[in-house]
Amino acid sequence: MMPEGADSTGIVIFGASGDLTTRKLIPALYNNYRKNRLPARLRIVGFARRPYTPAQFRDVLRQAVQEFSASSFSESSWEDFAGQLDYVAGDLNSLADLEALDVTLRSQEDGPANRLYYLAVAPEHYTRATNHLGAAQMGRTVQKSSGWRRIVVEKPFGRDLSSAQALNESLHAAFDEDQVYRIDHYLGKETSQNILFFRFANTVFEPVWNRRYIKNVQITVAETVDVGRRAGYYDSAGVLRDMFQNHLLQLLCLVAMEPPGSFDADAIRNEKVKILRSIRPVAVEDTVCAQYEGYRELQGVSPDSATPTYAALRLRVDNWRWQGVPFYLRSGKALNRKISEIVIEFQRPPHLMFHLPPGSEFTPNILSLCIQPDEGIHLRFEAKVPDSEQAMRSVDMNFHYRSSFDGEPLPEAYERLLLDALEGDAALFTRADELEAAWRLIDPIVSGWESGRGPGLATYPRGSWGPAAADELLARDGHLWRLGCLDHPAVGG
Ligand code: BG6
Repeated sequence: MMPEGADSTGIVIFGASGDLTTRKLIPALYNNYRKNRLPARLRIVGFARRPYTPAQFRDVLRQAVQEFSASSFSESSWEDFAGQLDYVAGDLNSLADLEALDVTLRSQEDGPANRLYYLAVAPEHYTRATNHLGAAQMGRTVQKSSGWRRIVVEKPFGRDLSSAQALNESLHAAFDEDQVYRIDHYLGKETSQNILFFRFANTVFEPVWNRRYIKNVQITVAETVDVGRRAGYYDSAGVLRDMFQNHLLQLLCLVAMEPPGSFDADAIRNEKVKILRSIRPVAVEDTVCAQYEGYRELQGVSPDSATPTYAALRLRVDNWRWQGVPFYLRSGKALNRKISEIVIEFQRPPHLMFHLPPGSEFTPNILSLCIQPDEGIHLRFEAKVPDSEQAMRSVDMNFHYRSSFDGEPLPEAYERLLLDALEGDAALFTRADELEAAWRLIDPIVSGWESGRGPGLATYPRGSWGPAAADELLARDGHLWRLGCLDHPAVGG
């Protein structure tokens, strides 16, 4: 909803000639446009160094939308949508260019207008960009009657705690915290958002959602892709910075946080910060790091690189609810399957009156929350085998988005996130203190590994499930990695 007194909205995309704009942002905006969800008087202005004319820019974007949003492309709606697209060539590192952009925007705005700035540039430009936005008076200094100003910042947000703090400082010099929207696209995924609905819109799960009933929690984000063209960035980042500091810890927060009092951005983020601060510093022996075979031969990777492409961690949450429940997290590239899943393994019943056949193991109740690709929820429980005396077998209750919601495709994460930023709802964005709490946890592990105090870099074959050390991490506690969703492909999936 547009605030009163503001009659137009501009989205200014910095880095408009890059991949993020063509693959994600414009397709998401176009899909929102088709669903009639964008503000009525909207201009989307691309800003980058490439000397496009506005017409050339629209052409590039048309091709991108045809490719990346193929199912929803229609010529007539594209023409309408493209009428709102504009392009200004300039260099974000030049204050004069930003001032000129501001003049152009003002000339188009005729009166109070809102602006959403989107930093879709390489992270090394973030600080300069925010400094220049501040110096050009394009941030907070604007009068309230002029409409709002917000800025969306992509990940990676810093490469450690101190660089993240420095970036927060420069953002805060130009914008108030409530104008800053730090993206973690995992929070925009429908299935991540559904975790809160699953826990807090139902009565049956929350009473057992604690150490008395839960034995361990496992979060897997496995990818089949390798590092590919991103070797330059990835080799200096590694899996902990790339995936754990943000996506995996965010998923952990959603699973482990206390119920917020409301669905308000700060109520939710307060609870997430509390959980992050309750995680015990991670001991070296609770970590596994590994690199897939052949990684060092990639172009852009140093031949003696020790960058981990896989990690597994055992985390402890020191609070009343989770005392004694291990949280196991793992993520890696070039693995066997692309799958993001949260598994909750429940305790055994306190007393089992049925006889298990000799040599067989009791199967605990398992709840699997499948984030992707086969979005759904599965609950495994024990049932009596018909026509037997005491034999039992594991069976499942399954929910698949695809069958329960009329086969509607799930929207891309960026659709939701862009809408929320336009509407001023920051619930799915990361607050400064939350981000810093996550770095506080990850930093010592990274620096431990980098200074050779780690568990030693293991290797794993491409297409495997990672190094044996990750299995041993759980085996020490008598546990094993589980993936519920693989057993339950959606009908036709
Ligand atoms: C990004 C990481 O944030 O998330 C990538 O930088 C990773 O390395 C990607 O591939 C995974 O996202 P998704 O949505 O494909 O699981």
